[in-house]
Amino acid sequence: MAAEVIRTVSIISGIGVFLATLLTLAERYLLNYGICKITINDEKELEVKGGNHLLSSLLQNDIFIPSACGGRGSCGLCKVKVLSGGGPLLPTETPYLSREEQEGQIRLSCQVKVRGDVAIEIPEELFSIREYTTTVEKIVDLNHDTKTLFLRFKDGEELDFQAGQYVQIKAPQYGKNSEEVYRAYSIASPPSDKGVIQLIIRRVPQGICTTYIFDYLKEGDQLDLNGPYGDFFLRDSDREMICIAGGSGLAPIKAILHKMEEEGIRRKATFYFGCVEKRDLYYIDEMQAFESRIPDFRFIPALSGAREEDNWTGETGLITEVVDRYVEDGSRMEAYLCGSPGMIDACIKVLLQKGMPEDQIFFDKF
Ligand SMILES: Cc1cc2nc3c(=O)[nH]c(=O)nc-3n(C[C@H](O)[C@H](O)[C@H](O)COP(=O)(O)OP(=O)(O)OC[C@H]3O[C@@H](n4cnc5c(N)ncnc54)[C@H](O)[C@@H]3O)c2cc1C
Ligand code: FES
Repeated sequence: MAAEVIRTVSIISGIGVFLATLLTLAERYLLNYGICKITINDEKELEVKGGNHLLSSLLQNDIFIPSACGGRGSCGLCKVKVLSGGGPLLPTETPYLSREEQEGQIRLSCQVKVRGDVAIEIPEELFSIREYTTTVEKIVDLNHDTKTLFLRFKDGEELDFQAGQYVQIKAPQYGKNSEEVYRAYSIASPPSDKGVIQLIIRRVPQGICTTYIFDYLKEGDQLDLNGPYGDFFLRDSDREMICIAGGSGLAPIKAILHKMEEEGIRRKATFYFGCVEKRDLYYIDEMQAFESRIPDFRFIPALSGAREEDNWTGETGLITEVVDRYVEDGSRMEAYLCGSPGMIDACIKVLLQKGMPEDQIFFDKF
């Protein structure tokens, strides 16, 4: 009986996959949607070849929508308002869209296909985002799986960005990887350094972009990027700040600390930096040096899995446990969180329990 059920399910799944493949091939080779018009904010019109995704059609016309997963429908960043012509909402989009967003015609532009004329609305600031070519000036190893890239903009160009924002770098085809991909990396250097930016990159095993950076990219090479993106930046307020980062999440916090130092921003601030073991830590001296240069700033690194040979005398436990120990009342504080989605969700839970209002919590999920 069980074998019969498995056989029936396999046959039905097989037919489903066959039909989906047939549809994709038919769309690619038989259907011709001709030239379609994309109207943006009622003011700009593009003519594009129909049949492609909205995100790539915009990219081909130098309109850069945030797309940290490179169009795979897994980052949820490529949202645009589709006023007409986008077709029905797809199951691949719904996990990333709140009910209000769905009702407000927000869509994932990497999932919507241009099969006719489309009208969309995007924030005006996206028009100023463009692609730049940089030269890799220096690559510095920070620990066993993390590096800093120093990227100089070509021809004396500069990038105007806010501390905390990110860029998307383009990894070209290399080795067995036939795709060109874009991935997001937060800027770690001060916003006053407009001609050279620093990115802190942590290797993801088998990751397309990080494998390119770690195994192929060399000093002197060219690297294309676009940006700046993001609304994770220092808010203009005098509330006490809590910054929490894990792994490469230190990058935007470093930029924010540079800004505070350079502009003489006097706010009580504590930076909790969580890693597993001692070999994962980096930029510890640099972060401690901020303590003497930014009044009322404290740096607290913590290890959740310190080894005996680490001889670690600092804070231990998950970063949420450390924050829980230090923070009593969060109601008048503001939080800046950066790291993996799991870490951020756990931190938000603790901060809400400490009475911090949700609109005083800012984050970038890596
Ligand atoms: C706004 C934003 C800012 C970011 N800033 C930084 C930064 O400053 N420094 C930095 O190193 N990264 C940063 N990231 C993450 C970065 O964009 C890439 O996702 C990451 O480098 C992996 O890219 P990849 O192409 O090497 O891996 P992919 O080829 O995309 O992924 C390979 C596999 O690994 C999984 N995977 C992807 N990312 C991770 C991860 N972080 N940990 C574990 N598994 C993963 C994927 O699900 C996939 O299965 C940021 C992401 C966002 C959204
Ligand atoms: S580009 Fe990541 S979800 Fe669309």
